[in-house]
Amino acid sequence: MALDIVIFGGIGDLSLRKLLPSLFYLCKDGNLEPQSHILCVSRKEKTCEEFLDLVNGKLKEYVKEDYDENTWQKFCNIISYKKVDLTIQEDWHGLRDHLNISDQEENRNIIYYLSVTPSLFTPICQQIKLNDLNPEYSRVVVEKPLGEDLNSAEEINEVLALSFKEKQIYRIDHYLGKEAVQNILHLRFSNHLMETVWSKDHIERIDITVAETVGVESRAAFLDRVGTLRDMVQNHLMQLLTYITMEAPASLDADDIRDEKLKVINALRPIDEKNVGKRTIKAQYVSGEVNGRIVPSYLEELEQSELETTGNGETFVALRLNVDNARWDGVPFYLRTGKRMTRRYAEIRMKFKPPSSNIYQMNDSNELIIEIQPDLTVSIHMLMKQLMGEVSQLNAHRNQMDLNTSDTNLARMPEAYERLILEVIKGNQTYFVRDDEILASWKWIDGIRLGWDTTGQAMQNYVAGSMGPELE
Ligand code: BG6
Repeated sequence: MALDIVIFGGIGDLSLRKLLPSLFYLCKDGNLEPQSHILCVSRKEKTCEEFLDLVNGKLKEYVKEDYDENTWQKFCNIISYKKVDLTIQEDWHGLRDHLNISDQEENRNIIYYLSVTPSLFTPICQQIKLNDLNPEYSRVVVEKPLGEDLNSAEEINEVLALSFKEKQIYRIDHYLGKEAVQNILHLRFSNHLMETVWSKDHIERIDITVAETVGVESRAAFLDRVGTLRDMVQNHLMQLLTYITMEAPASLDADDIRDEKLKVINALRPIDEKNVGKRTIKAQYVSGEVNGRIVPSYLEELEQSELETTGNGETFVALRLNVDNARWDGVPFYLRTGKRMTRRYAEIRMKFKPPSSNIYQMNDSNELIIEIQPDLTVSIHMLMKQLMGEVSQLNAHRNQMDLNTSDTNLARMPEAYERLILEVIKGNQTYFVRDDEILASWKWIDGIRLGWDTTGQAMQNYVAGSMGPELE
């Protein structure tokens, strides 16, 4: 199938660090047809040689030992560079000629990847429409930040809708490209064992944690402006939450799955000025030790960055929330995420109720732990008889189920971007966020922010290298 991928911001950081390496891997694994073409676009002048040198150097840096000359020879035959100044009409005409848009081949794919700041979505989408660059078979890929609140997210949706139908729009949340996240639906809906216990009748509480060890570093200005609630919870944690709580979709059709996710977001009990103090914590790290190294505090990091910041952004958030529907009525969900924490990991921990006849008088119970990173495991915490112990002596075991079946021939686990780009090429929207879903989650997040503002909720501190303050 003829495929054109046009990357706006084609020589920017995301493109060089993630997109081109992912496409290199797709090429290496034979997932890109030889007639495919990747066009990197930016407003800088660059000769073909300069461009190829740049990409070659970055690929060696990012794909490391997976780099090989053979694949590079194939890859450099399908990538090229074009200077397009978004404000110059001739440049757009040049792009149109290059894409040979009038050629209405059946099954042709044109993918526009907007790897640029959202403020450029408007001029790009307007020009795409003006120059008739949006035939039925074209698609557009965008990724966060998709808005900073409900209003700005609505604006982005409207801008994209200028040139593309919702069926053509792929909003990336890279957590949906993670193997362990995709596996949640399989775990839930293909195992009777899981399906039967997946509700308030059996589950006492659910904890979703995404802990990072990185600080704000070069992204200080952005992260300080939006804070962790908007940078991590509105998107990545919300995706984990919806996968864990949604009802079984009518089918595996992308919209059936996304309909169910939307219903969960709409069932989230609002957090506002009335309950925000009890249900949320926001905090910033102070200096401490992470991975054996003393790191500066958040405010010191901002100062060192010399960027314009206010110091108001939170680097840690904890939330206690409820999903007000029949399945989850009364079950508390604890979400926590932060930077500069003890170690980097993401997991979902589901604590089960004790058995109804507590003859062993335990204060422990079963847990199901889905580890998303760094390892991909599903483990079950079981209580068994202690070896050679008395009749009442119990031992807790965590038995692990391996996500990778033993017959897998995978030499490496593909990165989230690689998997998601492949889904865009296939035209499968399952792992992409729909317009209404993104608005619903912003609406809920805006309520928390308004609650913080109205009540003047205090910013707490935590020592870098710790797991942050506890929410009861
Ligand atoms: C990004 C956030 O979306 O996700 C970053 O903007 C964060 O602040 C990153 O560090 C975390 O992604 P991952 O895949 O490393 O957990």
